[in-house]
Amino acid sequence: MTEPDVTPKSRVWVEINLDTIERNFHHIQEAVKPLQVLAVLKANAYGLGVEKIAERLNRAGAAGFCVAELKEALPLVKFGKPVQILGAVLDYEIPEAVRNHIILGITDLEVARKISMESVRQGVTTEVQLKVDTGMGRLGILEPDVLHVAKEVVKLPNLDLKGIYTHFPIAYHGADRYSFAQAARFLGIIEKLAQHGIVLEKRHIANSDAINNCPFACVPPFTHVRAGINLHGSFDTEGQRALKLEPVLSLKTYLVAVRTLPAGHTIGYGCTCKLFRDTRVGTIAAGYADGLPLNLSNRGYVLVKGRLCPILGRLSMDYTTISLDSFEEGEVKPGEIVTCIGGEGADRITVEDWAQIKGTHSYDIICSFGTRVERVCVTDH
Ligand SMILES: Cc1ncc(COP(=O)(O)O)c(C=O)c1O
Repeated sequence: MTEPDVTPKSRVWVEINLDTIERNFHHIQEAVKPLQVLAVLKANAYGLGVEKIAERLNRAGAAGFCVAELKEALPLVKFGKPVQILGAVLDYEIPEAVRNHIILGITDLEVARKISMESVRQGVTTEVQLKVDTGMGRLGILEPDVLHVAKEVVKLPNLDLKGIYTHFPIAYHGADRYSFAQAARFLGIIEKLAQHGIVLEKRHIANSDAINNCPFACVPPFTHVRAGINLHGSFDTEGQRALKLEPVLSLKTYLVAVRTLPAGHTIGYGCTCKLFRDTRVGTIAAGYADGLPLNLSNRGYVLVKGRLCPILGRLSMDYTTISLDSFEEGEVKPGEIVTCIGGEGADRITVEDWAQIKGTHSYDIICSFGTRVERVCVTDH
């Protein structure tokens, strides 16, 4: 039985089970040991609320936290674990990042010089890691330049060059030529640096897709994996799911109206649904502003009293209409809690179900819950 720690004060809320997150973390840790797990908590822990999730993962034994930018890094410093900005560092972020001992990625020599200068100015040493582009095509030092950049970085004052990392764009394809070649090139770079006396203690490449599909990326000489979506029990819609992880979230709302509409009545904007018989129709207090994909219109389901109820018509911003025809008169009333994602057994509605209907991936679904959706942490007890 899962009970919210606090009573939701919103029409729509997402319940995040911290015990499940912790179990998922331990599964990942077990699967990749002796490598350590860095928890990727960017974008407010993928929109689920970073504070409590970080607190739990810190206790569970995460080796550190990875984020996208300074604003996300600062609240994590208090846990006393390494906090790393994975992507580009902007000029205005450098002084505060250095002051707070955030680990910074070196994407080119110029940024390394700026971080060094600021570290000298503050009289501190900053840990940096080389961010190498082995095939993502987004950010980082290209293979032919890595040795030169590394040799320059080690000469710069007040920098401690401790690590190197790169990122897979299609790890869900598994050990295909692309990811395998990327890992091989990356290992070649590490080896070449070592031959020139630059031995880097932290070496990482694997994200969730790689943890499930690329065993070669989760063994020494790599030292860490960077896990994000797997912590939430979600996977890319493509690729295999080697780990047995549990979904951590349920999205819930209230039924606000139950009415019987006559045959011939249409439902919602665009009149995309016309009733062919008198139908018991429910209206729930969640719409696309809360993160329900518009593609659920006339296609998706929600759970009322554990029973799947089809969505009728087009979703609107604040409301969605459903068929309650499978219930007897008076069996469900306004105020009933409705599960949009969650539930048990075969009728469970998952993040991946929505991703499939929307033609997207689970990251997009989780990151799209609206700002008025309350994030409520729950536990198993
Ligand atoms: C560089 C980097 N590493 C790791 C991750 C974590 O990815 P995932 O959520 O697939 O585990 C991300 C997220 O996009 C990333 O940008």
